[in-house]
Amino acid sequence: MKYEIKCVGLLTSGGDAPGMNAAIRAVTRTAIFNGIRVKAIYRGYKGLITGEIKEFKTENVSNIIQQGGTIIKTARCAEFMTPEGRKTAYENMRKEEIDALIVIGGDGTFTGARIFAQEFNVPIVGLPGTIDNDLWGTDVTIGYDTALNTIIDAVDKIRDTASSHERLFFIEVMGRDAGFLALSSALASGAEAAIIPERETKVDQLEELIKNGFRKSKNSSIVIVAESEVTGGANGLAERMRREHPEYDVRVTILGHIQRGGSPTASDRILASRMGVAAVDALLDEQRSIMIGIVNDEIVHVPFTKAIKFDKPVNEDLLGVIQILSI
Ligand code: F6P
Repeated sequence: MKYEIKCVGLLTSGGDAPGMNAAIRAVTRTAIFNGIRVKAIYRGYKGLITGEIKEFKTENVSNIIQQGGTIIKTARCAEFMTPEGRKTAYENMRKEEIDALIVIGGDGTFTGARIFAQEFNVPIVGLPGTIDNDLWGTDVTIGYDTALNTIIDAVDKIRDTASSHERLFFIEVMGRDAGFLALSSALASGAEAAIIPERETKVDQLEELIKNGFRKSKNSSIVIVAESEVTGGANGLAERMRREHPEYDVRVTILGHIQRGGSPTASDRILASRMGVAAVDALLDEQRSIMIGIVNDEIVHVPFTKAIKFDKPVNEDLLGVIQILSI
């Protein structure tokens, strides 16, 4: 029997990402366009448990496509990881007459969604919203392009002072355990190297950097480091550099949460808008427990199980490109 969807619940969960608002707008308007009511659930799964839910009309999403963050707030909710928490969430869903969910977030968001969908037979579609770009099955995630451009802007500024003082800068970027932001920002900002967690297991990247004649022909250097226990982060590498090579004048910049804010780029707005429309279409096509992805500019449906289970590989060839271009 066809599961009729009359009302869809929408939430953002996990770390926010620029473009989430564009996705909220797209989901809301596409649902309304198709005669489906939309209920915004505030603060991610937490709002589903506490009942912070509000019906959205088309005007609730006016003037937000250009805004960073998420107007419906976000949270990481430990309670949703418990059976009791999910039971309360389901009861609230029924009370609010929500028939299906669209969840925008990353790995943790989809892990929760998968379990919830299985336990209560709830139709759920996910949108990949994370600056980390670390979800398998999609070429890009919502927020990645904006974060990348924010990083490049910051690195360009640091380069001015690095060059004036003839210093070596280790700049730490986000990415949780993935090196996408580090690798692409290093290439796009003309950095000498990117230190990423994916490669650390194979080689001593700092050693390799020095061996390759790092800073030989330059008066300053910039190394982009992915935050991670594996890489040791920018501070860890800087400490080691100072110890082993006191001749370098080393400085550290940790870009931090500046990377998560700001108005989304055109690419992120377009991506979020396309994906938002596709999420509602997928629910109407009776698709369940899938993430909307984009591959070669085509919308794809990726089962949550795959998006969560598989690690998306970074293109390690880019390390070679960075190395060649840094001579
Ligand atoms: O997943 C997005 C992200 O920004 C990661 O890059 C980072 O490790 C983490 O979230 C930071 O989380 P919080 O904002 O909770 O400190």
